[in-house]
Amino acid sequence: MPPDPSRPDLHVIVLAAGEGRRMRSDRPKVLQPLGGQPMLAHVLDALAPLGPAAVHVVIGAGADRVRDAFEARRPPVRWVEQAERLGTGHAVQQALPSIPAGARVLVLPGDMPLIRTESLERLVGIDAPLALLTFEPGDPTGYGRILRDDAGRPVGIREERDASARERQIGEVNSGVMLADAECLADWLGRIGNDNAQREYYLTDVVGLAVADGAAVATASCGESREALGANDRVQLAALEAALQARRRRALLDAGVSLPVPDQVQLRGRVEAGRDVVIDVGAVLEGTVVLGDGVEIGPGCVLRDCRLAAGTRVEAYSVLDGAETTGACRIGPFARLRPGTVLAAGVKIGNFVETKNAVLAEGAKASHLSYVGDAEVGAGANLGAGTITCNYDGVNKHRTVIGSDAFVGSNSALVAPVTIGDRATIGAGSTISGNAPADALTVARARQKSLPGWKRPTRKS
Ligand code: UD1
Ligand code: MG
Repeated sequence: MPPDPSRPDLHVIVLAAGEGRRMRSDRPKVLQPLGGQPMLAHVLDALAPLGPAAVHVVIGAGADRVRDAFEARRPPVRWVEQAERLGTGHAVQQALPSIPAGARVLVLPGDMPLIRTESLERLVGIDAPLALLTFEPGDPTGYGRILRDDAGRPVGIREERDASARERQIGEVNSGVMLADAECLADWLGRIGNDNAQREYYLTDVVGLAVADGAAVATASCGESREALGANDRVQLAALEAALQARRRRALLDAGVSLPVPDQVQLRGRVEAGRDVVIDVGAVLEGTVVLGDGVEIGPGCVLRDCRLAAGTRVEAYSVLDGAETTGACRIGPFARLRPGTVLAAGVKIGNFVETKNAVLAEGAKASHLSYVGDAEVGAGANLGAGTITCNYDGVNKHRTVIGSDAFVGSNSALVAPVTIGDRATIGAGSTISGNAPADALTVARARQKSLPGWKRPTRKS
């Protein structure tokens, strides 16, 4: 069960029916990714802490895809379909029937991913039949302008395309976020028309109606002006990405993480970092990445869903996916750790080593050019250059178990299922298809021979 809402009177309507034609994409606009997540996820994350009774999301273009993408979300959102896109006012109207009359309604666009909880809190804290979140962008072009009377009271919103040259000079604009009393909103929306440049039912027209009714209209402003920026095309999406990355990097820097080249680190998920962590130039972090004290991530590394214990060092150009270290390890350069890799303290994974479903105990080493898959490697074992676990017979995967302090000579193929005993030694170049006993040398390769008196062929005359 979802937690009890802390604001049971608050219902949120997210407007997400637009197709975002200017993205030139097959993907519905609110599914365009930003910082590794669909745009809509950012909006839902920002409003969740408000503790609303329900979140109603109005969808239209690509409705099924949007619904599928958020199927697992908890608490679940309530989907509302807007069959025809007749404007933001019409979109809100589709959701109102499922909202109780006594509620307060927070409306926000689904394509405003940088919006912060603090700004929404500021609006939700207002006690008025209608309240607007406004901001002052560097360039107000395209936004609805906030009209105020001589006393500074808001009296209306004028959309760009309906505005006079003078009104276009106004710098304060509508963010698209609005808080309204549900009953009043239903009444005002029932009275709006579409007599405007776009032949749409504008949500923003409720402001003029509220003023005409003598209802108080309040405003609050965004903490940062870029919070309200929307993404209509790829250029704007890229600008939002840059802003989001800057915000995330700033949070890491503030938390004490060292980023020698901050603007060349990409944070596409959630990072949790201890003290004195260093993330070097060109690193990309995705999913949930947890870095213990003193972890160092070298240049050009990609980490997805990893948990690295204190003191772990990942050298340049390593790719780690679903890997975990439980003590200080040394990884890379040019290592590839795949899901199910678990490395204990003192493990060394060197260049061009790939691991998958592999558990390496304390101090085990694979320093060069190896594949270690579906394997268990004992403490202190040393896998020489070119060690390959042949885990796949073309149909099934099999396990390789390597004992502690085993020594596997270079260029050995371990044909699974196979067990190498504790302290066993495997001669270089062996193909091991049967178990190798503990404490013994096992060699499986043709014997070396030399042919004395052998002559090189000579060129035919
Ligand atoms: C809207 C506001 C404008 C504000 C701007 C902020 C109106 C009339 N204008 O303009 O004052 O400055 O946002 O970015 O509200 N949508 C639907 N169904 C519809 C129409 C729109 O779900 O029928 C959704 C869109 O997908 C989008 C949001 O509502 O997420 C805003 O619609 P959009 O067409 O982008 O409005 P703007 O012209 O940007
Ligand atoms: Mg818009």
